[in-house]
Amino acid sequence: APLIFSGVQPTGNLTLGNYLGAIKKFVALQETHDCIYCVVDLHALTINPSPKELVNGTRSIAAAFLAAGIDPVKHIVFNQSRVHQHAELAWVFNCVARMGWLNRMTQFKEKAGKDRENASVGLFAYPALMAADILVYRATHVPVGDDQKQHLELTRDVAQKFNYDYSDHIGELGLGVPMEIGEETVNGYFPMTEPVIEGPATRIMSLRDGTKKMSKSDPSELSRINLTDTADDIAKKIRKAKTDPEPLPGDSGGFEGRPEAENLVNIYAALSETTKEEVLREFGGKQFSVFKPALADLAVEKLSPIADEMRRLLDDKGHIDSVLANGAERASVLAEKTMTDVKKILGLSW
Ligand code: TYM
Repeated sequence: APLIFSGVQPTGNLTLGNYLGAIKKFVALQETHDCIYCVVDLHALTINPSPKELVNGTRSIAAAFLAAGIDPVKHIVFNQSRVHQHAELAWVFNCVARMGWLNRMTQFKEKAGKDRENASVGLFAYPALMAADILVYRATHVPVGDDQKQHLELTRDVAQKFNYDYSDHIGELGLGVPMEIGEETVNGYFPMTEPVIEGPATRIMSLRDGTKKMSKSDPSELSRINLTDTADDIAKKIRKAKTDPEPLPGDSGGFEGRPEAENLVNIYAALSETTKEEVLREFGGKQFSVFKPALADLAVEKLSPIADEMRRLLDDKGHIDSVLANGAERASVLAEKTMTDVKKILGLSW
């Protein structure tokens, strides 16, 4: 049966990019699928947050999940470090993944910068932990923004190499299903997880520079909308968003050389759950002086209730903590089943 897994790092404020690219999709998928949503606090350690920041950040992402409408009773919401099997499987995957694969990760190259010698080993091994997050539940689908695509390809590479290397023993133990790898058929234990990267919000761009991703870490506050921004902040940031002097084009082919304009239309489409084409049917030919106030109203209408609910939830930290503890308990049962199999497959238990 299909199973959804995704994770969000508890580092800094959640942005409109995180919401539209990921969390809003988590909410939609829970109507039709079993879902596991995780606050990946172990991943956050790669940038060395203070303990206080980590606690607050973790609760705040959990609050955002709930405020956006994720149901922690029907589905599973927890923080990664409570389920030790993630770290345990990550070690196994450190021994499956190749240096060369991890060396190619663009996110590592960006985050490590020029001073590679000083980057943490954790930052380098980050994608192996991410593969473990997903595969410890043998999840089949992972909703993410476009920036995580390469990490999900690596997850498939890890699953494939594990299946290939241990195929015979997986078969002897009766733990696999037949899987094609090129011309060969192997006994697959881990599934080939599919990324879910669709719709107008797979890559929300900075409001100040339409060629850069909207990000928690951009030094300019005006570049991003935070999930917790006030209505005034949201309106101000959209008013000040970079644009060009032309009116909006009549169809989606007309954005050539206009990334900022296209980004604002994508945001409108994602917030109103329609397509770019549909938005242009309404606003094509209109000036930004008309479109921006409409976008600001829509953003406030959709985001303010979430911010209010997050604040309300964060007033009762005991409640959030108990949601996370309960989710972790249920996640542990699933993760332990996988680790029991994996230890048998590897020859660590018999
Ligand atoms: P993180 O915490 O950086 O981002 C969380 C989610 O938000 C998406 N996102 C965006 N989508 C569209 N436009 C943007 N500007 C934008 N910025 C961020 C991200 O693609 C992501 O889906 N490595 C992951 C966390 C992770 C994970 C996992 C995800 C750890 N384990 C297992 C899926 C499955 C990360 O750093 O996301």
